[in-house]
Amino acid sequence: MKRFSVLLTVLLAGSLLFSHMALRAQEAEANYNEAKVPRYTLPEALVCLDGSAVADSQQWFARRRPEILKLFRDQVYGHAPGRPEDVSYRVVESGEAFDGLAVRKQVEIKLRQGGKKLSVGLLLYIPTERGKTGAPAILGLNFAGNHTLSDDPAIILNTNWMRPRKDSGIVDNRATEAARGTSSSRWPLETILRRGYAVASAYYGDIDPDFDDGFRNGVHALFDKRGGGGQRAADAWGSIGTWAWGLSRIMDYLETDSDIDHARVAVLGHSRLGKTSLWAGAQDQRFAMVISNNSGCGGAALSRRAFGETVARINESFPHWFCENFRQYDGRENSLPVDQHLLLSLIAPRPVYVASAEDDRWADPRGEFLALKNADPVYFLLSGDTLAAAAMPQVNQPVIGRMSYHLRSGGHDVTAYDWDKYLQWADRYIGRR
Ligand code: GCU
Repeated sequence: MKRFSVLLTVLLAGSLLFSHMALRAQEAEANYNEAKVPRYTLPEALVCLDGSAVADSQQWFARRRPEILKLFRDQVYGHAPGRPEDVSYRVVESGEAFDGLAVRKQVEIKLRQGGKKLSVGLLLYIPTERGKTGAPAILGLNFAGNHTLSDDPAIILNTNWMRPRKDSGIVDNRATEAARGTSSSRWPLETILRRGYAVASAYYGDIDPDFDDGFRNGVHALFDKRGGGGQRAADAWGSIGTWAWGLSRIMDYLETDSDIDHARVAVLGHSRLGKTSLWAGAQDQRFAMVISNNSGCGGAALSRRAFGETVARINESFPHWFCENFRQYDGRENSLPVDQHLLLSLIAPRPVYVASAEDDRWADPRGEFLALKNADPVYFLLSGDTLAAAAMPQVNQPVIGRMSYHLRSGGHDVTAYDWDKYLQWADRYIGRR
């Protein structure tokens, strides 16, 4: 048994290394030439499938919004189930953190369905100084375990499978003491706490491990129904759908925690987790604000531009992220009934922040800006606000408002610059009271 699991680990690590190398090769040969972006027409946000125009917010919420949501579920991310049959919460650890600046709480969220169960480990830091309704919070999944957010030794080491990281050797697929704090540059906890926000985070692999196993592990095991011949439905959820669903399950918990003001929770994510935060925010209107950090293809970037990563490439490299139907649009982006401006429109009128990085061409910064700009009609209809920039702003010239955008200098990452802007923006809408 042990030998078998070692063999499995080596095979998995080998195949991940191989796919990593294949991905780098794809990045090198992608289109980065504006002149070669195909001609396209975006689907109209305010025209229903039957051709009727949306004239007011009532029609948007009653007709067009559900229609667009269904298209994304049917064709892109797949359908997610509702809450599981049984849920329980247990505070497994708590204590003072950062010299009294915050309280740390670690909560086990146990989900049960059809005789199977899944545990998600939530890490919470809550500012000691908070108002009567509880602290506003920023919620985001993490890539490598809660223990990588900080070197706080009380953070429980995750025992689930970890995605091997470029910087830590290929078979590092278990959490180690050495990994403590290794993602701390992406999570400036003390800065966030000092500004009055709680931080809530969980390891995305607790919800669904990020590799293609035929949708058998993670939360898929609890819910997936196979038809004849073991086939999944073409609109069954992929991993992005599961991670977004997991964010909603964490929100269910936050609603029960009086230390948190659940009406003031922003959901944030980077890269594939940025795609996830957008999809979570689009579906679940309990999220007061949504942040997409360098989310790219399948996130904030327009698919029709086929700039950098394309639909065909993402489906080939990550066959487990989207639903099967999404593959129909490989190389056929123009026949997609949606594009990502409509995903951003689903968040309206709640504040949304799309952030790009100058050297992150794979994620198509211009495509991210254009998707946001093309969500203007819906934001205008519902709130009177639009993105306060007619053209793409210069590097490091953020545009901050209900619809926010910045293009940071540097590469694919979450940096102090990004956080500084997110917190400024959050202060306007959900900040200290
Ligand atoms: C790859 C992938 C992107 C994704 C990114 C990440 O680069 O092609 O779509 O956003 O990984 O999640 O880091």
